[in-house]
Amino acid sequence: MTTIIGLSGSLRAASYNTALLRAAAGLMPAGAALDVRTIHGIPLYNADDEKEQGAPAAVRELKDLIAAADGLLLATPEYNNSIPGVFKNAIDWLSTPDEDAERVFGGKPVALAGASPSGFGTVLSQTAWLQVLRALGTRPWFGDQLRVSHAGKQFDAERRIVNPELQEHLRQYLAGFVEFARQESRR
Ligand code: FNR
Repeated sequence: MTTIIGLSGSLRAASYNTALLRAAAGLMPAGAALDVRTIHGIPLYNADDEKEQGAPAAVRELKDLIAAADGLLLATPEYNNSIPGVFKNAIDWLSTPDEDAERVFGGKPVALAGASPSGFGTVLSQTAWLQVLRALGTRPWFGDQLRVSHAGKQFDAERRIVNPELQEHLRQYLAGFVEFARQESRR
C-alpha cells in the first residue's frame, strides 16, 4: 500500500482546502491511500517551549506519520498572496530539530494543491511554498498543477465537489503523484 499524508493549511470547518483533501481520499488510485491529517492542536512555534517541554503530541504524531509515509500532499490556502501563517507554523514545528527535518522531509515526495474563491487558485501561495520545500530537502512533484479557482462554485454547501472536470483532474493528479512517489521509493 502506498500511503500519502494529506495536510490542509486551513483550520476552518468549511475549508475548501480540507474539502479538496477529503474528496481526494475517495479518488486515490488502486493500492494507495490518502491519510488526511490536521494541523489543529499545533501551537505557535516557540523555541523556548520546545527546549523546555519538547514538541507537543500533535507535532510528534505528525512527524512520525510523515516520516513513515510515501509522500505528502499539501492543500494550501492563499493569504495575502502567500502561505497562511498557521500552515507555515505547522511545517516549522515539524522541521525542527535538524535531525527531524531530515527524518520527516528529507527526499520526501511532496505535491502542492490549493483552493481559493478568487480566480487565481492559490498560484502565489503554491509558488511561495517552493522555497520552503527546497529548504526542507523534499522532492517536489511538478508533473501537474492543481489550482482550484472560484472554489465557491466547485463545491456545494456540504463541501462536496460539484464540478466533474475538477473531480477528474483531481483523480488524474493523484494518480500522477502516487506514481511519482512509488518511483521515488524504489530509488
Ligand atoms: C484571504 N483570501 C485570499 N485569497 C486569495 O486567492 N488570495 C489572497 O491573497 C487572499 N488573501 C487572504 C488573506 C486573508 C487574511 C484571508 C483570511 C483570506 C481568501 C481565501 O482564499 C479564502 O478565505 C479561502 O476560503 C481560504 O481557504 P479555506 O479556509 O477555504 O481552505
